[in-house]
Amino acid sequence: MPCLFRALRFWVRRASRVAALRLAGIDPRMSDATTPAPAAPAEARSVTPARAAKVRAALDNRVGTVVAVVESVRRRHNASALVRSCEAFGIHEVHLITGFFKPSTGASRAAERWVKVRVFPNVSDSIDELHARGFKVYVADLVDGAYTPETLPVDTPVAVLFGSEVRGVSAEASAKADGAVMIPMRGLTESLNVSVSGAILLRAAADRRRAVVGNDLDAAEKSRFFQEWIGREESGRRGLVARAG
Ligand SMILES: C[S@@+](CC[C@H](N)C(=O)[O-])C[C@H]1O[C@@H](n2cnc3c(N)ncnc32)[C@H](O)[C@@H]1O
Repeated sequence: MPCLFRALRFWVRRASRVAALRLAGIDPRMSDATTPAPAAPAEARSVTPARAAKVRAALDNRVGTVVAVVESVRRRHNASALVRSCEAFGIHEVHLITGFFKPSTGASRAAERWVKVRVFPNVSDSIDELHARGFKVYVADLVDGAYTPETLPVDTPVAVLFGSEVRGVSAEASAKADGAVMIPMRGLTESLNVSVSGAILLRAAADRRRAVVGNDLDAAEKSRFFQEWIGREESGRRGLVARAG
């Protein structure tokens, strides 16, 4: 009988722990927190409610209908800075076009944990997919008739496509795009660094689109991303615990 009582108590405790995790928005299957774990070092402790709330708040501030497309940018720090700017402005999705070069896996490593980075082998696949989803795609390029950050149309979902450091935007991308957008140059230099142009154009696109539709990242994507993030934090934590043990 005492044995039966102990088993019953174990299952009641376990059920309430699962319910608490669910209430906090954490999938219990992604957590080993349903079974008592040995005390972890402070830096290895699991996702705290405060940290989870911070991530949820960041996702609530995202605009899902602005996408950055980065075409064959070769320098790691440029790709990284672009992804980081996206995260800072609440842009959820970035397409990296690998084209004829193989990107370093280190490109944007830190910030890519926080945004959805998708890799496409060629620019057509990215643009076709965006068009199918109702996006208009504008190449960032200094050409006659280009929109400016202030006049870029934001009445539909919008993607801004950046060219590589040396070659600029490809002919293929320009031919498929719905238009161009540029930052007027008033000095003697011909163009800006790609990540600088990204910061200027993406900030304007995100804020202006947000003024029309609000923070519109859909609930399913927020939930998927949150679970993915929790899973990563948990496996990182398990790695730390294993190393500490
Ligand atoms: C260093 S620039 C490339 C310059 C290249 N020689 C060219 O002819 O385009 C890299 C990318 O940054 C973006 N960019 C730089 N300055 C810009 C500006 N003033 N307006 C819009 N995009 C710009 C473009 O997407 C460009 O392809």
